[in-house]
Amino acid sequence: MQRPNTKSYYLKTFGCQMNVYDSERMTEALARDGYVATDDISSADLVILNTCHIREKAAEKVYSDLGRIRDMKDARKRDGKETVIAVAGCVAQAEGREITTRQPAVDLVIGPQSYHRLPELIERTSNTREHIVETEFPGDEKFEQMKAPRRVSSPSAFLTVQEGCDKFCTFCVVPYTRGAEFSRSLATLETEARELIAAGAKELVLLGQNVNAYHGEGPGGRSIGLAELIRRLADIEGIERIRYTTSHPRDMDADLIAAHADVPQLMPFLHLPVQSGSDRMLAAMNRKHRTEEYLDLIGRLRSARPDLALSSDFIVGFPGETDQDAEDTLSLIRAVGFAQAFSFKYSSRPGTPASTHEDQIPEEIKSERLQRLQALLDDQQAEFNAQAFGTTVPVLFERRGRQPGEFVGRTPYLQLVHVAAEGDLVGRIADVAVTDARRVSLSGVIAAA
Ligand code: SAH
Ligand code: SF4
Ligand code: F3S
Repeated sequence: MQRPNTKSYYLKTFGCQMNVYDSERMTEALARDGYVATDDISSADLVILNTCHIREKAAEKVYSDLGRIRDMKDARKRDGKETVIAVAGCVAQAEGREITTRQPAVDLVIGPQSYHRLPELIERTSNTREHIVETEFPGDEKFEQMKAPRRVSSPSAFLTVQEGCDKFCTFCVVPYTRGAEFSRSLATLETEARELIAAGAKELVLLGQNVNAYHGEGPGGRSIGLAELIRRLADIEGIERIRYTTSHPRDMDADLIAAHADVPQLMPFLHLPVQSGSDRMLAAMNRKHRTEEYLDLIGRLRSARPDLALSSDFIVGFPGETDQDAEDTLSLIRAVGFAQAFSFKYSSRPGTPASTHEDQIPEEIKSERLQRLQALLDDQQAEFNAQAFGTTVPVLFERRGRQPGEFVGRTPYLQLVHVAAEGDLVGRIADVAVTDARRVSLSGVIAAA
């Protein structure tokens, strides 16, 4: 129901899936407060940027956006309209008051642990015209108070089960922006999972910055790990697929590996960032594992689930990285064989130990190493997708495609699949005969039942 004084908002999300989850919850809170979403930023009464601090480029993009939004705010003011500008997410948490100093048009800076207070803080800043900076870490209050959406935007729904990270990799801002590890209880997660299913979800993607370090309160107050959480959630009626991300190699315990063998809803795809294939670099990064341990872990995972496909994250040009270190990373990639992967040039982040390292790598060398690494990963992805050609795979359809009658879904291995079909496939799992396999996506036809 629309209220007479409906205000509009524009929300832009940067960064990881946890920001997407948070944005969905903010959207729900704003809707309950009478706000309506708009795609037209220049007509919005409220603009929220949910930001990412992981690399310099991501963080700087926020300031260039804010410059343009300030101009719009000035233009609207000349027409007698007010605009509230809010910066949320990891830049908000990391930079706090610095944001309003650098861009005074920003009214509200709100860290990820305070989103349940968003409507109240917007109201306060509109009334007082004061800058508000809210970056406390009050623990689990946010989750208790934010509501799941009444209709999911995709049948593949995110569910944050864990937040924060205690690993302190020397390149990474997450332990500072998201704080210490915190796991939600089984009871609250079961409730939210049921709500998501009722809202149309078929797949749950369990999220955490370090999701397999999950240790939440389970039955009788005892602590449970991610494997038990997955088993409990798999028992809920209507959950067809389960995934989890992002994991740390050190936290892949035997129970979680076993879950890959014995929980049918757990998809045979794992994102397991390794960052480098050089032990020297892994030690400098404080990754707490060696190359051999990673390869051994992959071996145990593949014994438990022979058709498991893997994805990873890589950083090239970490301070002190030699040609040999870069070569060692390529060898690791050849040894594992990845279905897909993300790779980045090292970006120096203020406040992290690696940023003060003297041996920073020149930009041209980083670019050249990244190119070689990505060429190899692209070949592996193409090869992996080519194997799907001529097979029949179960696809969960997530949305309509750009062409009329086209639907887009994903295989158990997260491959994108395009299919033309009659009726509405969104939210359904159907077998697809793959008739074309390209590097980044597949297409096919619905197989006869
Ligand atoms: N919690 C996850 C991912 C965190 S950030 C994990 O532990 O893997 C996602 C990815 O961004 C990381 O895996 C890493 O590859 C990359 N990343 C993080 N900090 C970076 C930096 N300073 N420069 C370049 N890439 C970075
Ligand atoms: Fe960052 Fe992941 Fe390392 Fe945590 S484990 S510090 S989130 S890269
Ligand atoms: Fe970025 Fe924060 Fe996620 S820094 S990657 S939005 S945890």
